[in-house]
Amino acid sequence: MKKRIPFFAGNWKMNKGPSETERFVKELATAIVGDEAVFGAVKANEIEIGVFPPFVSLERAKSAIESANALISLGAQNMHWEDSGAFTGEVSGTMIKETGCQYVILGHSERRHIFGETDDMIEMKMRKAIALGIKPVLCVGETLEERDKGMTESVVEGQLKEAFKALGTPQTFEIGIVIAYEPVWAIGTGRKASDEDAQRVCAFIRSFLESNFDSHVAQAVRILYGGSVKPDNAMGLMSQQDIDGALIGGASLDVSSFIGIIKNGM
Ligand code: G3P
Repeated sequence: MKKRIPFFAGNWKMNKGPSETERFVKELATAIVGDEAVFGAVKANEIEIGVFPPFVSLERAKSAIESANALISLGAQNMHWEDSGAFTGEVSGTMIKETGCQYVILGHSERRHIFGETDDMIEMKMRKAIALGIKPVLCVGETLEERDKGMTESVVEGQLKEAFKALGTPQTFEIGIVIAYEPVWAIGTGRKASDEDAQRVCAFIRSFLESNFDSHVAQAVRILYGGSVKPDNAMGLMSQQDIDGALIGGASLDVSSFIGIIKNGM
């Protein structure tokens, strides 16, 4: 029995505008209520289900969640570290907070690699999110080249060190920071990390937390795996000791596969 509440989080990426979001949330809420095991577990706070729609769909997601009385958490996929200003095309943490987000994904590899986000930017976003009371879902993970060179742990450690460099105390974690290990080569490729490899890196992340903060933090922080999670591989992943949930891309876009992952993984 895991000490931490498993978190099944759907990162929709650039998919689903407001109307589709509303339809999806209603359908998901109905599917949750319709499945006794899932509904019972959500109600008893034994699992957490969250969705991360695009910015323009957040407000609609929030109202759909409220009107369905659904126990679904809401998060954004990114945010800026400043509250406002001349940052064309950006959305601030204060704005997503006002929209009702409890979570924000920070440092996703697509942000790092396609949009050039640096460790410094991610670190500033981490500090801002925490100051605003938004729980960061910090993503870390190595590229295929780094993996082939045997650099997985050193890359992940470097990303963690940078993200937490100004967040020196165990109290920082009380907000409920989540860490997601997403090997870049496993994202959207259908090539999931083996259960053992995913577990090894998640255990490494936990040991990082223990040595840089304390054992309470290491035991409390939820560490998710992301990268080609599907209903048929969820059980193996979720039975690993240090994996506390999944950050799901493609398979979270369809209610039956998202629910399939939750059912098989819980
Ligand atoms: O953040 C989730 C993600 O990057 C994994 O995507 O499509 O491989 O599940 P996918």
